[in-house]
Order: sequence, then structure tokens, then C-alpha cells
Amino acid sequence: MSFLKGSIGVMDSGIGGLTVAKEIQRILPHEDILYIGDSANCPYGNRTAQEIAELSRNMLRYLGERGVKVVAIACNTISTLVDVLTPDFDFKIVGIVAPSAAYVAHSGIKKVGLVATEFTVATGNYDKLIHQLDPTVQVTGKGSPLLAGLVDRGDFNQQDINTEIRTQINYILSKDPEIQHIILGCTHYPIIESNFRECYPEITYINPALEQANAVRSYLEEKNSLDEEKEGSFSICTSGDPEVYVQVAKRIGMKEPSSAIHIVL
Ligand code: DGL
Repeated sequence: MSFLKGSIGVMDSGIGGLTVAKEIQRILPHEDILYIGDSANCPYGNRTAQEIAELSRNMLRYLGERGVKVVAIACNTISTLVDVLTPDFDFKIVGIVAPSAAYVAHSGIKKVGLVATEFTVATGNYDKLIHQLDPTVQVTGKGSPLLAGLVDRGDFNQQDINTEIRTQINYILSKDPEIQHIILGCTHYPIIESNFRECYPEITYINPALEQANAVRSYLEEKNSLDEEKEGSFSICTSGDPEVYVQVAKRIGMKEPSSAIHIVL
């Protein structure tokens, strides 16, 4: 299988980053997208920083060998380590936490909830980046050791999904009942946004995918490196089951992938 050089790489521990690939596909329809998801090792959010960095380097190397021009780390958990990973690669890496934090800090929201993996919440990365821009925003986070892994199976009717959503949001609301906005701080979560809305319809959910896609576009514009003519292709590589990715891409309304293959990372 050969890939087009100059693609935009999009990577995640699993299927979650498809929510970002969808936005990139929508705002940059002429770009080739090479998606990589490491479902064999998902969830990353219960691992150590060292393990996450090592697994992420495998994916970044894979993308680098295929000549990507930029990589969107469409995974909040991996993005908390973006400063550790960036020096090892000679292509631009765009994380998701910084654009998401900037969106919240500039939105005027003063109390925000964060649902994410345990790792993402424990790093305090969201709090730090939001507070650099607006120290008055109160961030209340709750990590889940289970939800990303449940979603990555591709079966969205499991009762455990809603139970886990309730555990996270009940905790946040018990800390601060005035919270009305919650960041979906794991890219797997927007795939099941309808479950979140079913459980807590009164909450406004923030999906950072578009902010990251905009950050990728800004970088390519700055570098004069946008593709503007042809129709972009969409290729998927995964250490898991490619069929799950094809089905999820369809579920979230993406263009059909031109290829979806299993790889060993
Ligand atoms: N999509 C990843 C994130 O945004 C899932 C993390 C995991 O693998 O635990 O954090």
C-alpha cells in the first residue's frame, strides 16, 4: 500500500481522532488525510507517561516515514506530552489541548467541567493552559479509566457507556452544581455525544475537534502549504480492526475512506 506524500497525519490511540479527521476533511477538502489509530494498545489513558510517549513515537515514526507534512495529535492524552514528543521529529506536530484551552479561555465561560481520561485530568494540562490565558476560569475535571476503551470497541449501545458518563458528570456537578459547559476532553467522547446529551441534556458540550482543525489550517496557510486543487484522499491505518474505523467514520458522517488497513506498530 502506498500513501501520498504531503498528507496531513492524524493520530490517536484509537477511533477517537476520527472526530478531528472529520473536521479537517470538512474545512480542508483538498487535503490527503492519513489516519493512524493504535487500537491494539488503547486505552492509553491508564498508562504511564513513558509508555504513552513510547507508543506515540511508534505512530509518529510511521507517519514520518510516509512523508506527512504535519501531524494532528487528535488525542488529548497524547497531546499532554506534545512538548516531550516534538523535539524528536522534523515535521510540525499540532496537539489538541492547546487550541481547546484557548477556545475555552476566550469564550467567556467562567466555570467549566472537563471529562477526559484519568491521565489527561491528572496532568492538569487543561487547567494550566486555560489559566495562562484566563486565571479566573474554574476548571473541574473528572477522569474515567473506562469510557475511552468502551467506545473504542465500536459498540455504542453498551449500558456501561451511560453509567460511566453519569459517574463522571455527577462528580463534576457535585463539586459545582453551577457548571453548564463541559469539555469533551477525550476525542472518543464526541462519537457518543448523543449519549452525553441523553444523560444530561441541560449541559452544553464543547468538542475541541474544530479548534484543532483550524490550528492545522493556520499552520498550513502560514507555510503556504495548502492543497487547493484536487479532491483529498482519506486513508486509515490501525493496529486494530479496520472495519470498526470504517463504520465509525460512516456513523459520524465522514467521506468514505479510500483504504483502511491493519498494520503492526
Ligand atoms: N482519544 C484519546 C483522548 O483523547 C483516548 C485516550 C485513551 O486511549 O485512553 O484522550
